[in-house]
Amino acid sequence: MKKLISLVCLLHFTPIAFASTTVLTADRMVDVEAGKIVKNAVVVIENDKIIAAGQASVTPYAQDAKVIALGDATLMPGLVDMHVHLVGSNMHGYNSLSVSLPRATINGVQNAERTLLAGFTTVRNVGAEGFADVALRDAINDGTVPGPRMFVAGPSLGVTGGHCDDNLLPYEYQHFSEGVADGPWEVRKAVRRNIKYGADVIKFCATGGVLSKGTKVGAQQYTLEEMQSLVSEAHLRGLTVATHAHGTSGIKDAIRAGVDSVEHVSLVDDEGIRLAVKNGTYFSMDIYVTEYILGEGAKAGILEESLAKERIVGKTQREAFTKAVKAGVNMVFGSDAGVYPHGDNPKQFSRMVQFGMSPIQALQAATINAATLLKKQLELGSISPGKLADIVAVAGNPLDDMTKMEQISFVMKGGEIFKAPVAP
Ligand code: ARG
Repeated sequence: MKKLISLVCLLHFTPIAFASTTVLTADRMVDVEAGKIVKNAVVVIENDKIIAAGQASVTPYAQDAKVIALGDATLMPGLVDMHVHLVGSNMHGYNSLSVSLPRATINGVQNAERTLLAGFTTVRNVGAEGFADVALRDAINDGTVPGPRMFVAGPSLGVTGGHCDDNLLPYEYQHFSEGVADGPWEVRKAVRRNIKYGADVIKFCATGGVLSKGTKVGAQQYTLEEMQSLVSEAHLRGLTVATHAHGTSGIKDAIRAGVDSVEHVSLVDDEGIRLAVKNGTYFSMDIYVTEYILGEGAKAGILEESLAKERIVGKTQREAFTKAVKAGVNMVFGSDAGVYPHGDNPKQFSRMVQFGMSPIQALQAATINAATLLKKQLELGSISPGKLADIVAVAGNPLDDMTKMEQISFVMKGGEIFKAPVAP
């Protein structure tokens, strides 16, 4: 009888002793909160969370832990891209009309994996038809397919004939994008509909764009009144708002209306930069994509009128980026991958440094700043005890050469390893 009792106790208590502990070691780790490198780094992971991180001499771990020694490598928090379109194709202009939504969604599965393996453990997907982004997010979250954590917008909202509409077909086709909404009450209703079907964030188009047919890239599209209505509805429901805006007045009215981030920001003036600093508005500036559009866009079907617009905004946007960084605007990493191939997102890091950021600032833009804009800074964005174990690594030191970010060698998301260097 005595024996039986002790056996029962043993069975009952044994599982508690089996928490799975993984330890990562590397010559360096980027502490994005302090803005510095920690040498001889150790990170202790239990299940999906980081439980300790720091210099080896002050970060003990259990003898029986599984150790992954990365050697001459740099550990960084999982990267966050705040402007992607995973669902879609890399077909542009009239070529894009041949791609069905089911096909674009299947592409999305492949794009999600490529993005994750490039080091992006989180993305904000700013616009997809048919709530295909909601489906992809949910499939990733329940482990059906591999991919980054997704924060999704559903259909982007925009005015009739604007950048977020689809203006390729003539009148008799009566074709509109799902996010078309005009007037303060229609935009409120569109926000409510996007929330109903699973949006985490609201995306709208404040001005014309480069890749849309027939829009003036600098012209404002939503009025201040419409934007105020849209933003107040989203904020009421606890969602943040991202706006596509290249044009000067549209950027400023969007900031006045209270948007959380402005995307592209190509033709911003000094007043727009001052307003952003004052209101804490984030800028997400896709300063790599211009090279792809002007280099390979014509082959991919980009319309000549779009190439002409890009020749103007690409250069201005880079100048604006330099000014915004100098003025101290809150900056996040946003690539617009989808316009160019997914997985090439990290090419933007070296351009961010070329046009005015320190390497640490570029990494902060893609980690802690992005997590803060997502309101997930308690769970994501740095290698800190208590946060989710989203950790990536590169060989060597990327602070010496940001093109190294294009060669992510190790990817862990939520404690699960998706990519690791081949054992020597
Ligand atoms: N989706 C954006 C648009 O069509 C891409 C802009 C790309 N150009 C740039 N310089 N960032 O407007």
